[in-house]
Amino acid sequence: MSKRIAIIPGDGIGIEVTAEATKVLQTLMVSRGLPLELVTLDWGGEKYLREGVSLPEGALEMLRQDFQAIFLGAVGDPRIPGNQHALDILLGIRLGLDLYVNQRPVKLLDARLCPLKGRREQDINFVIFRENTEGAYVGMGGNFKRGTADEIAVQEDVNTRKGVERILIYAFEHARRHGLKRVCMSDKSNAMAYAHGLWQRTFADIRQRYPAIEARHLYVDTLAAEVVRDPSQFEVIVTCNMFGDILSDLGAQLVGGLGIAPSANIHPGRVSMFEPVHGSAPSLAGKNVANPMAAILSVGMMLDYLGFPELAGQIEGAVAKAVHCEQTTPDLGGMRTTREVGDWICAQL
Ligand code: NAD
Ligand code: IPM
Ligand code: MN
Repeated sequence: MSKRIAIIPGDGIGIEVTAEATKVLQTLMVSRGLPLELVTLDWGGEKYLREGVSLPEGALEMLRQDFQAIFLGAVGDPRIPGNQHALDILLGIRLGLDLYVNQRPVKLLDARLCPLKGRREQDINFVIFRENTEGAYVGMGGNFKRGTADEIAVQEDVNTRKGVERILIYAFEHARRHGLKRVCMSDKSNAMAYAHGLWQRTFADIRQRYPAIEARHLYVDTLAAEVVRDPSQFEVIVTCNMFGDILSDLGAQLVGGLGIAPSANIHPGRVSMFEPVHGSAPSLAGKNVANPMAAILSVGMMLDYLGFPELAGQIEGAVAKAVHCEQTTPDLGGMRTTREVGDWICAQL
Protein backbone atom coordinates (compact mmCIF):
# COMPACT_ATOMS: atom_id res chain seq x y z
CA MET A 1 0.00 0.00 0.00
CA SER A 2 1.52 3.30 -1.01
CA LYS A 3 1.62 6.24 1.38
CA ARG A 4 0.13 9.52 0.24
CA ILE A 5 2.29 12.59 0.86
CA ALA A 6 1.01 16.16 0.59
CA ILE A 7 3.72 18.47 -0.72
CA ILE A 8 3.33 22.18 0.07
CA PRO A 9 6.24 24.10 -1.52
CA GLY A 10 4.91 27.44 -0.21
CA ASP A 11 6.86 30.62 -0.90
CA GLY A 12 10.33 31.94 -1.77
CA ILE A 13 13.14 29.42 -1.32
CA GLY A 14 10.55 27.00 0.05
CA ILE A 15 9.66 26.30 -3.58
CA GLU A 16 13.28 25.69 -4.61
CA VAL A 17 14.26 23.45 -1.70
CA THR A 18 11.01 21.48 -2.03
CA ALA A 19 11.89 20.72 -5.66
CA GLU A 20 15.12 19.07 -4.44
CA ALA A 21 13.42 17.27 -1.56
CA THR A 22 10.84 15.94 -4.02
CA LYS A 23 13.64 14.82 -6.35
CA VAL A 24 15.12 12.78 -3.50
CA LEU A 25 11.76 11.11 -2.90
CA GLN A 26 11.31 10.38 -6.60
CA THR A 27 14.82 8.93 -6.78
CA LEU A 28 14.02 6.54 -3.93
CA MET A 29 10.65 5.65 -5.47
CA VAL A 30 12.39 4.63 -8.71
CA SER A 31 15.61 3.07 -7.40
CA ARG A 32 14.29 1.40 -4.21
CA GLY A 33 10.63 0.97 -4.98
CA LEU A 34 9.67 3.31 -2.12
CA PRO A 35 5.85 3.15 -2.21
CA LEU A 36 4.74 6.79 -2.16
CA GLU A 37 2.20 8.93 -3.94
CA LEU A 38 3.11 12.62 -4.02
CA VAL A 39 0.38 15.25 -4.29
CA THR A 40 1.41 18.89 -4.64
CA LEU A 41 -0.76 21.59 -3.04
CA ASP A 42 -0.42 25.20 -4.21
CA TRP A 43 -1.00 26.86 -0.83
CA GLY A 44 1.06 30.01 -0.26
CA GLY A 45 1.44 33.69 -0.99
CA GLU A 46 0.64 33.50 -4.72
CA LYS A 47 -2.70 31.77 -4.14
CA TYR A 48 -3.53 34.12 -1.28
CA LEU A 49 -2.91 37.20 -3.45
CA ARG A 50 -4.82 35.67 -6.37
CA GLU A 51 -7.81 34.14 -4.59
CA GLY A 52 -7.71 35.43 -1.03
CA VAL A 53 -7.37 31.84 0.17
CA SER A 54 -4.65 30.78 2.63
CA LEU A 55 -5.60 27.44 4.21
CA PRO A 56 -8.50 26.29 2.03
CA GLU A 57 -11.86 25.28 3.45
CA GLY A 58 -11.80 21.63 4.50
CA ALA A 59 -8.00 21.46 4.27
CA LEU A 60 -7.44 19.92 7.69
CA GLU A 61 -10.08 17.26 7.12
CA MET A 62 -8.50 16.40 3.78
CA LEU A 63 -5.00 16.16 5.26
CA ARG A 64 -6.27 14.01 8.11
CA GLN A 65 -8.23 11.61 5.92
CA ASP A 66 -6.27 11.36 2.68
CA PHE A 67 -2.60 11.65 3.67
CA GLN A 68 -0.01 9.91 5.85
CA ALA A 69 2.44 12.84 5.90
CA ILE A 70 2.91 16.44 4.80
CA PHE A 71 6.09 18.04 3.52
CA LEU A 72 6.25 21.84 3.70
CA GLY A 73 8.95 24.04 2.15
CA ALA A 74 8.40 27.42 3.82
CA VAL A 75 5.77 30.12 3.91
CA GLY A 76 6.30 33.88 4.09
CA ASP A 77 5.85 36.51 1.38
CA PRO A 78 7.07 40.11 1.74
CA ARG A 79 4.13 41.32 -0.39
CA ILE A 80 1.73 40.26 2.35
CA PRO A 81 2.03 42.50 5.40
CA GLY A 82 1.87 40.53 8.63
CA ASN A 83 2.10 37.30 6.63
CA GLN A 84 -1.43 36.34 7.56
CA HIS A 85 -1.45 33.54 4.98
CA ALA A 86 1.71 32.01 6.48
CA LEU A 87 0.23 31.99 9.97
CA ASP A 88 -3.01 30.49 8.62
CA ILE A 89 -1.15 27.71 6.82
CA LEU A 90 1.73 26.91 9.16
CA LEU A 91 0.11 27.44 12.55
CA GLY A 92 -3.23 26.34 11.06
CA ILE A 93 -1.73 22.91 10.32
CA ARG A 94 0.39 22.62 13.48
CA LEU A 95 -2.44 23.58 15.81
CA GLY A 96 -5.30 22.27 13.67
CA LEU A 97 -3.82 18.77 13.36
CA ASP A 98 -2.62 18.93 16.98
CA LEU A 99 1.00 18.26 16.00
CA TYR A 100 2.22 18.79 19.53
CA VAL A 101 5.80 17.56 19.09
CA ASN A 102 8.20 19.81 17.21
CA GLN A 103 11.36 17.74 16.92
CA ARG A 104 14.43 19.73 15.89
CA PRO A 105 17.68 17.76 15.87
CA VAL A 106 20.99 19.57 16.25
CA LYS A 107 23.64 17.25 14.84
CA LEU A 108 27.08 18.22 13.61
CA LEU A 109 27.67 16.33 10.34
CA ASP A 110 31.11 17.83 9.68
CA ALA A 111 33.34 19.52 12.26
CA ARG A 112 34.20 22.26 9.74
CA LEU A 113 30.61 23.55 9.91
CA CYS A 114 30.81 24.43 13.61
CA PRO A 115 31.68 28.04 14.49
CA LEU A 116 32.89 27.01 17.97
CA LYS A 117 36.58 26.28 18.55
CA GLY A 118 37.79 22.67 18.68
CA ARG A 119 34.45 20.85 18.44
CA ARG A 120 34.32 17.39 16.87
CA GLU A 121 31.27 15.77 15.26
CA GLN A 122 30.58 13.66 18.34
CA ASP A 123 30.47 16.80 20.55
CA ILE A 124 27.23 18.14 19.10
CA ASN A 125 24.31 15.77 18.81
CA PHE A 126 21.20 16.73 20.71
CA VAL A 127 17.53 17.12 19.96
CA ILE A 128 15.18 19.92 20.90
CA PHE A 129 11.57 19.01 21.63
CA ARG A 130 9.50 22.14 21.29
CA GLU A 131 5.89 22.18 22.51
CA ASN A 132 4.10 23.02 19.26
CA THR A 133 0.45 23.78 19.99
CA GLU A 134 0.30 26.14 22.97
CA GLY A 135 2.23 28.93 24.67
CA ALA A 136 2.42 32.31 22.98
CA TYR A 137 1.35 30.80 19.64
CA VAL A 138 -2.34 30.24 20.32
CA GLY A 139 -3.32 33.65 18.98
CA MET A 140 -5.23 34.82 22.05
CA GLY A 141 -5.05 38.48 22.89
CA GLY A 142 -5.84 41.83 21.40
CA ASN A 143 -5.19 45.51 21.13
CA PHE A 144 -7.01 48.25 23.02
CA LYS A 145 -6.90 51.91 21.94
CA ARG A 146 -4.91 50.73 18.95
CA GLY A 147 -2.90 53.40 17.17
CA THR A 148 -3.20 55.88 20.04
CA ALA A 149 -0.60 56.95 22.58
CA ASP A 150 -2.49 54.87 25.16
CA GLU A 151 -2.43 51.66 23.17
CA ILE A 152 -2.38 48.37 25.07
CA ALA A 153 -1.32 45.05 23.51
CA VAL A 154 -1.97 41.71 25.19
CA GLN A 155 -0.66 38.35 23.90
CA GLU A 156 -1.68 35.46 26.07
CA ASP A 157 0.71 32.63 26.96
CA VAL A 158 -1.45 29.55 27.30
CA ASN A 159 -0.10 26.46 29.06
CA THR A 160 -2.19 23.44 29.96
CA ARG A 161 -1.36 20.56 32.26
CA LYS A 162 -2.18 18.08 29.48
CA GLY A 163 -0.16 19.98 26.91
CA VAL A 164 2.93 20.27 29.08
CA GLU A 165 2.65 16.69 30.28
CA ARG A 166 2.46 15.15 26.81
CA ILE A 167 5.52 16.96 25.43
CA LEU A 168 7.54 16.09 28.55
CA ILE A 169 6.51 12.45 28.28
CA TYR A 170 7.42 12.43 24.59
CA ALA A 171 10.89 13.81 25.37
CA PHE A 172 11.54 11.23 28.11
CA GLU A 173 10.18 8.41 25.94
CA HIS A 174 12.45 9.50 23.09
CA ALA A 175 15.42 9.36 25.47
CA ARG A 176 14.40 5.93 26.73
CA ARG A 177 13.86 4.51 23.21
CA HIS A 178 17.22 5.79 21.99
CA GLY A 179 19.26 4.88 25.07
CA LEU A 180 19.89 8.54 25.92
CA LYS A 181 20.64 9.42 29.51
CA ARG A 182 20.01 13.16 29.84
CA VAL A 183 16.87 15.28 29.51
CA CYS A 184 17.00 19.01 30.21
CA MET A 185 13.75 20.96 30.65
CA SER A 186 14.02 24.68 30.13
CA ASP A 187 11.62 27.43 31.12
CA LYS A 188 11.55 30.89 32.66
CA SER A 189 9.73 30.02 35.85
CA ASN A 190 11.75 32.55 37.83
CA ALA A 191 9.97 35.33 35.92
CA MET A 192 6.79 33.62 34.70
CA ALA A 193 5.62 31.99 37.90
CA TYR A 194 2.16 30.92 36.73
CA ALA A 195 2.79 29.60 33.25
CA HIS A 196 6.18 28.07 33.88
CA GLY A 197 5.40 27.14 37.45
CA LEU A 198 3.09 24.63 35.73
CA TRP A 199 6.07 23.36 33.69
CA GLN A 200 8.08 23.00 36.92
CA ARG A 201 5.41 21.05 38.76
CA THR A 202 4.63 18.81 35.79
CA PHE A 203 8.33 18.10 35.24
CA ALA A 204 8.73 17.20 38.92
CA ASP A 205 5.98 14.58 38.47
CA ILE A 206 6.96 13.13 35.11
CA ARG A 207 10.67 12.72 35.89
CA GLN A 208 9.77 10.28 38.70
CA ARG A 209 8.66 7.80 36.04
CA TYR A 210 12.15 7.76 34.50
CA PRO A 211 14.62 7.12 37.34
CA ALA A 212 17.31 5.91 34.90
CA ILE A 213 17.38 9.25 33.07
CA GLU A 214 19.17 12.28 34.46
CA ALA A 215 16.51 15.02 34.54
CA ARG A 216 17.87 18.53 34.77
CA HIS A 217 16.38 21.99 34.66
CA LEU A 218 17.94 25.19 33.30
CA TYR A 219 16.37 28.60 32.92
CA VAL A 220 16.29 29.41 29.24
CA ASP A 221 18.81 32.26 29.43
CA THR A 222 21.33 29.98 31.14
CA LEU A 223 20.56 27.22 28.67
CA ALA A 224 21.33 29.54 25.73
CA ALA A 225 24.72 30.31 27.27
CA GLU A 226 25.45 26.67 28.12
CA VAL A 227 24.56 25.42 24.63
CA VAL A 228 27.28 27.68 23.25
CA ARG A 229 29.82 27.07 26.05
CA ASP A 230 29.61 23.27 25.95
CA PRO A 231 27.01 21.70 23.63
CA SER A 232 28.32 18.20 24.38
CA GLN A 233 26.51 18.17 27.75
CA PHE A 234 23.07 17.98 26.07
CA GLU A 235 21.18 15.01 24.66
CA VAL A 236 17.49 15.97 24.89
CA ILE A 237 16.16 19.48 25.51
CA VAL A 238 12.44 20.04 26.04
CA THR A 239 10.85 23.45 26.23
CA CYS A 240 7.86 25.63 25.38
CA ASN A 241 6.81 26.83 21.95
CA MET A 242 8.57 30.18 21.76
CA PHE A 243 11.79 29.18 23.55
CA GLY A 244 11.99 26.14 21.28
CA ASP A 245 11.70 28.39 18.24
CA ILE A 246 14.60 30.57 19.36
CA LEU A 247 16.82 27.75 20.66
CA SER A 248 16.42 25.80 17.43
CA ASP A 249 17.85 28.65 15.34
CA LEU A 250 20.70 28.93 17.87
CA GLY A 251 21.25 25.18 17.63
CA ALA A 252 21.14 25.31 13.82
CA GLN A 253 23.92 27.86 13.79
CA LEU A 254 26.17 25.53 15.82
CA VAL A 255 26.04 22.92 13.06
CA GLY A 256 26.16 24.98 9.85
CA GLY A 257 23.14 27.26 9.95
CA LEU A 258 19.52 27.23 8.90
CA GLY A 259 20.35 25.76 5.51
CA ILE A 260 21.04 22.37 7.11
CA ALA A 261 18.53 22.22 10.00
CA PRO A 262 15.54 19.85 9.58
CA SER A 263 12.40 19.41 11.67
CA ALA A 264 9.33 17.30 12.26
CA ASN A 265 5.89 18.32 13.56
CA ILE A 266 4.42 15.14 14.98
CA HIS A 267 1.30 13.78 16.58
CA PRO A 268 2.23 10.14 17.18
CA GLY A 269 0.17 7.82 15.01
CA ARG A 270 -1.42 10.60 12.98
CA VAL A 271 -0.65 12.53 9.81
CA SER A 272 2.44 14.62 10.64
CA MET A 273 4.35 17.44 8.92
CA PHE A 274 8.02 17.72 8.01
CA GLU A 275 9.79 20.95 7.09
CA PRO A 276 13.13 22.71 7.24
CA VAL A 277 13.58 24.98 10.28
CA HIS A 278 14.25 27.93 7.98
CA GLY A 279 11.75 30.25 6.34
CA SER A 280 11.21 31.57 2.81
CA ALA A 281 14.39 33.75 2.86
CA PRO A 282 13.04 36.29 0.34
CA SER A 283 16.49 37.77 -0.37
CA LEU A 284 17.72 34.39 -1.68
CA ALA A 285 14.55 33.41 -3.54
CA GLY A 286 14.71 32.62 -7.24
CA LYS A 287 18.51 32.63 -7.36
CA ASN A 288 19.19 28.89 -7.19
CA VAL A 289 21.49 29.47 -4.18
CA ALA A 290 19.40 28.22 -1.25
CA ASN A 291 20.76 25.19 0.57
CA PRO A 292 18.37 22.24 0.02
CA MET A 293 19.96 20.10 2.76
CA ALA A 294 17.55 21.12 5.54
CA ALA A 295 14.64 20.16 3.29
CA ILE A 296 16.30 16.89 2.25
CA LEU A 297 17.09 15.94 5.86
CA SER A 298 13.44 16.72 6.69
CA VAL A 299 12.46 14.18 4.03
CA GLY A 300 14.70 11.75 5.95
CA MET A 301 12.79 12.48 9.15
CA MET A 302 9.55 11.92 7.25
CA LEU A 303 10.67 8.54 5.93
CA ASP A 304 11.80 7.55 9.41
CA TYR A 305 8.33 8.45 10.70
CA LEU A 306 6.68 6.47 7.88
CA GLY A 307 8.65 3.33 8.77
CA PHE A 308 11.73 3.53 6.54
CA PRO A 309 14.51 4.28 9.06
CA GLU A 310 17.22 2.74 6.86
CA LEU A 311 16.41 5.21 4.06
CA ALA A 312 16.49 8.08 6.56
CA GLY A 313 19.99 6.96 7.59
CA GLN A 314 21.09 6.80 3.96
CA ILE A 315 19.77 10.30 3.28
CA GLU A 316 21.70 11.66 6.25
CA GLY A 317 24.77 9.79 5.07
CA ALA A 318 24.47 11.26 1.56
CA VAL A 319 24.08 14.80 2.96
CA ALA A 320 27.09 14.34 5.23
CA LYS A 321 29.11 13.06 2.27
CA ALA A 322 28.10 16.09 0.20
CA VAL A 323 29.42 18.31 3.00
CA HIS A 324 32.66 16.30 3.30
CA CYS A 325 33.15 16.52 -0.49
CA GLU A 326 32.36 20.27 -0.52
CA GLN A 327 29.34 19.80 -2.74
CA THR A 328 27.59 22.66 -0.98
CA THR A 329 25.84 25.97 -1.56
CA PRO A 330 27.55 29.27 -0.57
CA ASP A 331 26.07 29.33 2.97
CA LEU A 332 28.29 26.30 3.73
CA GLY A 333 31.24 27.74 1.85
CA GLY A 334 30.70 25.85 -1.40
CA MET A 335 30.11 26.90 -5.00
CA ARG A 336 27.26 24.60 -5.99
CA THR A 337 23.71 25.67 -6.80
CA THR A 338 20.55 24.44 -5.10
CA ARG A 339 19.85 22.07 -7.99
CA GLU A 340 23.43 20.80 -8.23
CA VAL A 341 23.45 19.88 -4.54
CA GLY A 342 20.11 18.10 -4.97
CA ASP A 343 21.40 16.22 -8.03
CA TRP A 344 24.61 15.20 -6.27
CA ILE A 345 22.71 13.81 -3.27
CA CYS A 346 20.28 11.97 -5.57
CA ALA A 347 23.23 10.43 -7.43
CA GLN A 348 24.58 9.10 -4.10
CA LEU A 349 21.21 7.53 -3.38
P1 NAD B 1 14.64 32.71 7.07
O1 NAD B 1 14.90 31.41 7.72
O2 NAD B 1 13.73 32.70 5.91
O3 NAD B 1 16.02 33.34 6.62
C1 NAD B 1 16.98 33.91 7.48
C2 NAD B 1 18.35 33.85 6.84
O4 NAD B 1 18.87 32.52 6.99
C3 NAD B 1 18.36 34.08 5.34
O5 NAD B 1 18.46 35.43 5.02
C4 NAD B 1 19.58 33.30 4.91
O6 NAD B 1 20.74 34.05 5.13
C5 NAD B 1 19.58 32.12 5.84
N1 NAD B 1 18.93 30.94 5.26
C6 NAD B 1 17.72 30.42 5.60
N2 NAD B 1 17.48 29.33 4.91
C7 NAD B 1 18.52 29.13 4.09
C8 NAD B 1 18.85 28.14 3.11
N3 NAD B 1 18.05 27.10 2.85
N4 NAD B 1 20.02 28.27 2.44
C9 NAD B 1 20.85 29.27 2.71
N5 NAD B 1 20.61 30.23 3.62
C10 NAD B 1 19.45 30.15 4.31
O7 NAD B 1 14.08 33.68 8.21
P2 NAD B 1 13.47 35.17 8.11
O8 NAD B 1 14.24 35.97 7.13
O9 NAD B 1 13.36 35.63 9.48
O10 NAD B 1 12.00 34.94 7.54
C11 NAD B 1 11.61 35.07 6.17
C12 NAD B 1 10.15 34.68 6.03
O11 NAD B 1 10.00 33.29 6.29
C13 NAD B 1 9.24 35.40 7.03
O12 NAD B 1 8.02 35.65 6.38
C14 NAD B 1 9.05 34.38 8.12
O13 NAD B 1 7.88 34.57 8.85
C15 NAD B 1 9.02 33.10 7.32
N6 NAD B 1 9.37 31.88 8.06
C16 NAD B 1 8.68 30.76 7.73
C17 NAD B 1 9.02 29.56 8.31
C18 NAD B 1 8.29 28.33 7.91
O14 NAD B 1 7.62 28.32 6.89
N7 NAD B 1 8.39 27.25 8.64
C19 NAD B 1 10.10 29.49 9.21
C20 NAD B 1 10.78 30.67 9.53
C21 NAD B 1 10.43 31.86 8.93
C1 IPM C 1 9.56 28.26 12.63
C2 IPM C 1 9.11 29.66 12.28
C3 IPM C 1 7.66 29.89 12.70
C4 IPM C 1 7.58 29.68 14.21
C5 IPM C 1 7.08 31.26 12.30
C6 IPM C 1 7.17 31.48 10.80
C7 IPM C 1 5.67 31.44 12.77
O1 IPM C 1 9.96 30.60 12.83
O2 IPM C 1 8.97 27.29 12.13
O3 IPM C 1 10.53 28.12 13.39
O4 IPM C 1 7.84 30.61 14.98
O5 IPM C 1 7.27 28.57 14.61
MN1 MN D 1 11.72 29.74 13.76
